[in-house]
Amino acid sequence: MPLLSIQNLRKTYGETVAIPDLNLSLHKGEVVVILGPSGCGKSTLLRCINGLEEKQSGVITVKNIGELGKDISWEQARQKVGMVFQSYELFAHLNVIDNILLGPIKAQKRDRAEAEKQAETLLARVGLLDRKTAFPRELSGGQKQRIAIVRTLCMNPDVILLDEITAALDPEMVREVLDVVLELANEGMSMLIVTHEMGFAEKVADRIIFMDRGSIIEESEPNQFFHNPQTERAKQFLRGMDY
Ligand SMILES: Nc1ncnc2c1ncn2[C@@H]1O[C@H](COP(=O)(O)OP(=O)(O)OP(=O)(O)O)[C@@H](O)[C@H]1O
Ligand SMILES: [Mg+2]
Repeated sequence: MPLLSIQNLRKTYGETVAIPDLNLSLHKGEVVVILGPSGCGKSTLLRCINGLEEKQSGVITVKNIGELGKDISWEQARQKVGMVFQSYELFAHLNVIDNILLGPIKAQKRDRAEAEKQAETLLARVGLLDRKTAFPRELSGGQKQRIAIVRTLCMNPDVILLDEITAALDPEMVREVLDVVLELANEGMSMLIVTHEMGFAEKVADRIIFMDRGSIIEESEPNQFFHNPQTERAKQFLRGMDY
């Protein structure tokens, strides 16, 4: 049984059919990278999975938990399925440690000392323990994004969704963030990743999903996808990535 399963997902915005009918599953420890042209529905898919967008139909389940938004509330579901965004979404008025501990203490009702210990271990891992009491405005984009990853990890999620988390970063900060994600992948974290970094996608992915107009039109191993894509649309997409 897959860890995460999405069955017959349909999402519309008024007249716009963003996702007509999508099926996808993710196994424990698997890293799936979702690629596709702008507007093809990648963000919509991730946002539906953790209930930030209301879907028209479909069933999203997590192993040993059940149907998200039904067997458990979306608020609880977001603790199991964490998400990291392009725009960090850190609270400007809270320092690093308070940003990280908000979820564990408020939503998970954990003991501050216990959660703080985990947060410190995670901060050390991403090389930012010395910025524990800094405020977001005092951090670089790459540092803010590593903090956002720590905040998600500190909830001990089963799955993490990453939506173009390096898209807003200066080129020299992209690598420090992608290295953290690659390390998580090597440790067996289950992840669904949307990225425009093709070299990274090829390296980190166990499987590539290629979407066009809300549907999955190609699904293959990274080596196959990047060097021998099957559909004309994927070939065209990859050509567009070469400068
Ligand atoms: N809040 C919204 N209201 C109306 N339409 C929306 C909304 N969000 C997305 N859409 C539409 O849904 C479709 C999918 O958008 P989505 O943002 O998921 O694409 P994407 O693949 O993430 O694109 P990008 O690579 O540019 O981030 C697009 O046609 C988009 O215009
Ligand atoms: Mg998007």
